[in-house]
Amino acid sequence: MSAKKILLTRIYPKVASDLLEENGFLVTKWDKERPMTSKELIENSKGHDAILCTLTDTIKEQFFKECTTVKMVSQFAVGYDNIAISEATRLGIPVGYTPDAVSEPTADIAFGLMIATARKMFYLHKSILKGEWGYFKPNSDLGLTLKNKTLGIFGLGRIGIETAKLCKGAYNMDIIYHNRSRNKQAEAELGATYVDFNTLLSQSDIVSVHCALTPETKELFNKEVFSKMKSTAIFINTARGLVHNETDLIEALQKGEIWGAGLDVTNPEPMQTENPLLQMENVTVLPHVGSGTIDARDEMSRMSATNIIEFFKNRAVPYIVNPEVLQ
Ligand code: DGY
Repeated sequence: MSAKKILLTRIYPKVASDLLEENGFLVTKWDKERPMTSKELIENSKGHDAILCTLTDTIKEQFFKECTTVKMVSQFAVGYDNIAISEATRLGIPVGYTPDAVSEPTADIAFGLMIATARKMFYLHKSILKGEWGYFKPNSDLGLTLKNKTLGIFGLGRIGIETAKLCKGAYNMDIIYHNRSRNKQAEAELGATYVDFNTLLSQSDIVSVHCALTPETKELFNKEVFSKMKSTAIFINTARGLVHNETDLIEALQKGEIWGAGLDVTNPEPMQTENPLLQMENVTVLPHVGSGTIDARDEMSRMSATNIIEFFKNRAVPYIVNPEVLQ
């Protein structure tokens, strides 16, 4: 059997190519920092047996139509909204992904954004750079206390659970959540309470978004939703920027309908430097770095390479989005 050809669509940690090469695969690497355009991705994928890709790659119907040699798609991310999963499934193409590896580091970022936003940390750092640290001010630059507050998790999956654990452990927060279905195990472990969406909005001091991007969640957090939140609430999004409408978020903050926002994901990405959110005292923005620790990215590389190796060895793909294609 000739060696299988795998395209690595971005510069991933070396763990991925090392593992694939040690297992006899022929690896092609895209060596530019930027992602490929959809056209480049299709052209470069042709002739490969699998691709190791990530959220910046558009893998929709046209890709599958043109790249007929590709028998497996291995995503380096837990989210996979960049891939037409139903089309892959229809064609019998397994799609791998990297759950778990990202949970703790992304929860750290959600937790960090809460503290940074509640205490205006990025804004105050910028004010020092501007020479504005004059003297101690008893009644200025005041933030919010997080202890004993209510955390509302939208989407209590792996990352939401890790975030809730941090908030409960550090600040004794009450945890309420809203999901498509109830998570009884998390309720028992965290003492979390399931509530309907409107209750989540009206009772939470912090609303933290951890859902997948789907047609139902696309721009769900809009004008109407922000207006139902507490005026003292902080909105945190570490999931996908498209889950919030950014114009509506800016307006809600400007009008004081909510108190602050901490974003690791923006709509659109990348955020432009003129975005008013970057000038607001109570807003903290990071450039989509939730999973960005050395350990997590190495583990994501291992998981995504292992998915490919196991598939071509005719063994169970360990981390798979559409297991039904292999049954
Ligand atoms: C994911 O895994 O979906 C993140 O957005 C990137 O790590």
